Order: sequence, then structure tokens, then C-alpha cells
Amino acid sequence: MTAATSSLAPEAVRPLLRGSFGEPYLYEPVCASTQDLLRGSGLPEGAVAVADHQTGGRGRSGRTWEDAPGTALLCSVLLRPPTAEPQLSLVCAIAVAEAVERATELAAQVKWPNDVMLDRRKVAGILLEAEGDTVVCGIGVNVDQRREQLPQDPPTPAGSLRTVTGAGHDRAELLASLLDLLEQHYRAWRQGGLEAVFHELGPRNFLFGRRVRVDGRPGTAHAIARDGALEVALDDGGHLRVTTGELEVVR
Ligand code: BTN
Repeated sequence: MTAATSSLAPEAVRPLLRGSFGEPYLYEPVCASTQDLLRGSGLPEGAVAVADHQTGGRGRSGRTWEDAPGTALLCSVLLRPPTAEPQLSLVCAIAVAEAVERATELAAQVKWPNDVMLDRRKVAGILLEAEGDTVVCGIGVNVDQRREQLPQDPPTPAGSLRTVTGAGHDRAELLASLLDLLEQHYRAWRQGGLEAVFHELGPRNFLFGRRVRVDGRPGTAHAIARDGALEVALDDGGHLRVTTGELEVVR
């Protein structure tokens, strides 16, 4: 752990990169959304866009993604997967969870299908936007925000690495670690499907045993199946395999 004010400029990040993800590396101190720096760009797989602040950050389901300038890791990665299937968000979430664990030395969980939780707080979210044969994978990690800089009444309680650990974390190190893990898991998934990375997912299932509602029907979340579906036992005795969409977690 080091000071959290580390630069994400190319000269700070490039020497830390270990694989091919991150080349080319597009950096803007401020932009509307890093997603837009890659969409329709024609850049190769593994291209990465990073900003210190977004003025129009996007979250899932039409929500906004806010950041206090210089406190978050805001990045997008261009991928060309064989299919834009929901499994890809789980693959990204595993990589983010592992990178968070390496940075904090705490156990992180995946809140199906694409949030990363630390100490029961959402510290990272993932947004996949598909266009033609490309998917732009947007990742936002709350790194250095103080409590008052986080969304005050989000659907899922929010935290940052700093609010959980009480320390600052190096964003450039976190980004390099994340890109390395994402590249490894993405390539493993392309070759062997979700089965190839499942051992990193099953034990990190945040929702296991938690009360949820699917289309208004109450139940209890169980395991993530080996194809990525979330298994839910409904209170009325039914059993659901949820594959996409929003799931309401009952607080
Ligand atoms: C969510 O949990 O709703 C997903 C949030 C994704 C936020 C990231 S930040 C980098 C990239 N650019 C955006 O505008 N959104 C994603």
C-alpha cells in the first residue's frame, strides 16, 4: 500500500504492464466516459482507455457512475469475444475481485453478475457495452474515496478500498494487476469456457444464502452454476436459474 495519488498517465502505467492488455493505452485526465474513447475506435483487442475523472460516467441499467476526481480507477478495455454472452461479465468480475484482493490482502466477493464486494460494500462495478464484434468492458473501482465522497443512497451499499482498509492504494499498481489478471482469465475463458475459471468464481459468490427477489418473487440465492447462471430457490417452492438481468437483493 502506498499513497493513493499515483498517476495513471502512460509513463507511470506502461512500465508496470505485464501482458499485452494496455497497448495501446489511451489516457485523458478528464473525459465524458472512457467507454466512448474505445467505442467504434477500430483499435485492437486489449486497447485500454483510462481517465482520472468522468463527467458522464455510465453505470448499468441507465444509471450514472459518479467519481470524485483522482480517487477512482476508471478504465475501459476493448475485447473481441466470440460471443457477447453474460459469462463475460463474470470473467471480468473475477479479475477485478482478484486485483482488489492483491491490493488489500482482504477477501473480495463477486456479487452476481458483475459487482465486486469488499466487507459487504460494493467497491467496483462493471459495464459491458457491445457493438458489432467488439465489447467495451468498463470497470470502475472505488479506490481512495472517503465515505462522504461515495454515493449516499445507492441500490447496493458503496465502499472504497480506503473506507474498508483505512489506507491509500496505488491506482497504477491496481490497474496493471487488473489488466494482467483480466488478460489471463479472458484467454482461459476463450479456450475453455467458464469451466476454466470457475474455481475462482464459485467460492467468491457473495449472494450465496442471501434473500433476493426475482421479478418480485422472493427467494434465497444459492450457487452460481457452472455455466454462470445464478440458482435461486423461491419461497413458493419453485427453482429458478437466473441468466441475465437485474436481481433485487433484499436488505
Ligand atoms: C455499474 O456497477 O453500474 C457499472 C459501473 C461501470 C463504471 C465504469 S467507470 C469506467 C467506465 N466508463 C463508464 O462510463 N462506465 C464504466
